[in-house]
Amino acid sequence: MNTVYIILTVLAAFILLTLLWCLIEPLFLDKDKITLGISPDVPSSDELTIRKLPINNKNINRDPDLRIFFFSDLHAEFCGISSKRICKSVTKAHLSAPLDCVIFGGDISNNQNKGDKGYRYLKKVSACCKDLGIPFYGITGNHDIYLKDPSNASGFIDLNNTFTDLASRTTGRKIVLAGVSDSGRLNRVWKQLPLKRGKDPVVLIAHNPDNLLHLDKDNRPDFMLSGHFHGGQMKFPFRLEHRLLRTKDLLPKKDVVQGVFDINGTRVFISRGLGCGVLPFRLFSVPEASVVEIYI
Ligand SMILES: [Fe+2]
Repeated sequence: MNTVYIILTVLAAFILLTLLWCLIEPLFLDKDKITLGISPDVPSSDELTIRKLPINNKNINRDPDLRIFFFSDLHAEFCGISSKRICKSVTKAHLSAPLDCVIFGGDISNNQNKGDKGYRYLKKVSACCKDLGIPFYGITGNHDIYLKDPSNASGFIDLNNTFTDLASRTTGRKIVLAGVSDSGRLNRVWKQLPLKRGKDPVVLIAHNPDNLLHLDKDNRPDFMLSGHFHGGQMKFPFRLEHRLLRTKDLLPKKDVVQGVFDINGTRVFISRGLGCGVLPFRLFSVPEASVVEIYI
């Protein structure tokens, strides 16, 4: 009887501590530096090729062509990171090495019809970018499909299904920054690159990394920044969270949920994002806002 009692007490304590940790983890913030170099070989076949790469390549010893502050998946109702902390991170990053732009990767709020809390948050980030003289771009995610004019309400420059030209900070060479919107899970439509790819390097912002697998093979970008998977959000054994909640997503089935990859010749960064979807919990998937340095 005593042994059963001890086992049950230990089990209850373990579950309680895990739950407590799940509530605390969303308050931490990883401020990673990511390096993305152009792929030396761009396969044109239909076969899916994926290579995991280190997030920070310390062997590159020159200035990057672009330096971007990237954050995604705000989910404002369940976000433990304040706008003040993001503004502070942007300011600190910009003062230590100048940023070319700040980009938001979609999912403003959990409530698909109401974005007020997320709008207020992003407006503060927008004001902070304005003070620093940095452009603030954004796209929408699968949670934002019913929001009315979210870019205007959030104060970011709308990159949904459009593109803009940036210049390399080292050579002045043109780099195209493009974005695609997310259609949501019901009646899914994958958007194509909003321009015909020429000789200029292209950086695509797509909320769902799976979007890359649905692009025309002769029109893939050189780089892609994404979010959506939340790094798994709650990493249970046997990838349960993906088996139960993300049955339609393809890349998690290949163990691609966060970090840097070469996928079919495109250098991809997938952020764990800031907030939480469904429940305000995270387990072994700390929120993340990153400085992404791009080398063409
Ligand atoms: Fe999300």
